[in-house]
Amino acid sequence: MAMHVEAKTANLVELLAEGGAEVAITGCNPLSTHDDVSAALDSHPRITSYAERGVDDEAYYADIEAVIGHGPTLTVDDGMDMVAAIHDSHPELIDSIVGGCEETTTGVHRLRAMDADGELRYPVFAVNDTPMKTLFDNVHGTGESALATIAMTTNLSWAGKTVVVAGYGYCGKGVAQKAAGQNANVVVTEVEPRRALEAHMVGYDVMPMREASEVGDVFITTTGNRDVITREHFERMEDGVLLANAGHFDVEVNLDHLSDMAVDRYEARDGVEAYELSDGRRLNVLAEGRLVNLAAPIALGHPVEVMDQSFGVQAVCVRELAENGSAYDPGVHDVPDDLDREVAEIKLDAEGVEFDSLTEAQAEYMDSWDHGT
Ligand code: NAI
Repeated sequence: MAMHVEAKTANLVELLAEGGAEVAITGCNPLSTHDDVSAALDSHPRITSYAERGVDDEAYYADIEAVIGHGPTLTVDDGMDMVAAIHDSHPELIDSIVGGCEETTTGVHRLRAMDADGELRYPVFAVNDTPMKTLFDNVHGTGESALATIAMTTNLSWAGKTVVVAGYGYCGKGVAQKAAGQNANVVVTEVEPRRALEAHMVGYDVMPMREASEVGDVFITTTGNRDVITREHFERMEDGVLLANAGHFDVEVNLDHLSDMAVDRYEARDGVEAYELSDGRRLNVLAEGRLVNLAAPIALGHPVEVMDQSFGVQAVCVRELAENGSAYDPGVHDVPDDLDREVAEIKLDAEGVEFDSLTEAQAEYMDSWDHGT
């Protein structure tokens, strides 16, 4: 496994170990590991954890190699770094790998691109794309935890702030909705016309980043893309703005450009680095531009109420691969609908929420074409 090693992930790891697995795990981001959680996992007789917070690139990839050294039969990734390392450097392992699971949008994008090129050589479930994950984790989890982490890291209020949300996908929708709910003015930037229109119809101001950069107080990127905020935008920003990224990789805010422009850099607060420009403006970058809700010093990740669903899906997908892995060809697979429903039903039961079911006559009606006025 290569995941964000924090408390909710630990619950999944322990569950898999109790189910009979031997688990080797490392982080999927150099800043998101909670060292105490990693140490606790490592003390379990069936679990080895290599995750450590604050590692450099070399140590990060060495830890992925160490996990691969256990000779995995199943992989669970958040961002696809392990699948990539296995295909690039350990193709001899592929025949004995039953399958994998991918947690996040960026990882699924990478896997689909690899699959389209005919390069993905074992089956992987797109856990991210299933309703029980995307509609809750990406929307509510990212919305709440990104905003909570930014507010706690800076001790600033959302009320009256202009918050620029880059990308109006699942994560962007959650961030925009929850920021508006805390009385911020929300500006959305998009490149996809239907999503831009959706944001407009909800009532947000939609504009290009070039214009948004002049009006924003807080910028939150959720695109999964690179170079969303660059030199031309930094040039227009007000003194004191906050720059945070909630997308998977640290490439959305171009910190190379900002470093080039800065005459000074200093730690403004724990988790906030101020870049001072030659005209005296200070642009504040949170969590080194890494996904803020997991990489900021006080970050706790998503609330447990959504991660139990995301990791519930991971658990049933691992179970499916262990029991029926040979039924899946190499490539990206949607999570089977009955598994997604199983997690929804367990969650509703746990919440004590009852809901209706179709009568026989209703089920027949819904399945038939032979009716009308
Ligand atoms: P999505 O595909 O639903 O949304 C991304 C949106 O960004 C799309 O609407 C796309 O058109 C837009 N976009 C792309 N390039 C853009 C640009 N240059 N300017 C403006 N908009 C642009 O993806 P989703 O599920 O919202 O995920 C977004 C990112 O967040 C991914 O990297 C994903 O892995 C990550 N993620 C982070 C989480 C966290 O805990 N912070 C949780 C879940 C996902």
